[in-house]
Amino acid sequence: MEIMILPDAQRASELCAAVIDRAIRAKPGFVLGLATGSTPVPMYRELIRRHREEGLDFSRVRSFNLDEYLGLAPDHPASYRRFMNEQLFDHINIDPANTRVPDGLAADIDAACAQYEADIRAAGGVDVQVLGIGSDGHIGFNEPASSFASRTRSLTLTRQTRQDNARFFASLDDVPHGCVTMGIGTILESRTAVMLAFGAGKADAIAGAIEGPLCAMNPASALQLHPDARIFLDEAAASKLKLKDYYNEVFARSPYWQSFKEVK
Ligand code: GLP
Repeated sequence: MEIMILPDAQRASELCAAVIDRAIRAKPGFVLGLATGSTPVPMYRELIRRHREEGLDFSRVRSFNLDEYLGLAPDHPASYRRFMNEQLFDHINIDPANTRVPDGLAADIDAACAQYEADIRAAGGVDVQVLGIGSDGHIGFNEPASSFASRTRSLTLTRQTRQDNARFFASLDDVPHGCVTMGIGTILESRTAVMLAFGAGKADAIAGAIEGPLCAMNPASALQLHPDARIFLDEAAASKLKLKDYYNEVFARSPYWQSFKEVK
């Protein structure tokens, strides 16, 4: 894992967007894995700015989102499809037909999940997967006790996650109990995984994911098995890491990271 600790969320988001920008320009037909939640929003804003001001072209990009609530229609204000349209897709030149979000209304959820996996494979696999992290360590919606071998499937949300996400709904009772999510096994097959985490509320989950044991109780710890996982943190989210000084030294000595003007 590579751990990049930036002074604040904005700087970390800009660096992450620069990594994605470079990767998109390098590969026609790039496949981008996308995440929802508040965390990636500044990073998406930076991708939009790069599209508008620096010619970043999404016309041949294909995207697959991590997850969706079960039972929410695509136009529901809290659906992840609507979130993606509003926060990113409506502002860049991606072909809407090339954007995929799991279908929370599928009549046969198991078949839809198997099809989602098949579609990712047919697209050539995910080149860069964007990830946030839940306060309980979940990635996508893979809650604690999710198998590291899990694939796209439906599962039940924890009370903690429903409470964390209640701010997007009229009340806690309106938060769905179920979701569809790429599995941890699916996420581990991405060529590069970029995780963003900001704020003190993520510090325990991040410390467990990076420095704790591989453990189904912290699903993000599965990233220790990923061959190219890059974790972008602000100071608060990094505050409980024991080897912070070491990560900072590795970052500062890396010619790759120093090649980004966002680091200067
Ligand atoms: C949701 C999403 C996750 C996301 C998490 C954190 O539960 N399914 O993909 O990482 O929220 O959200 P936030 O970034 O708002 O803290």
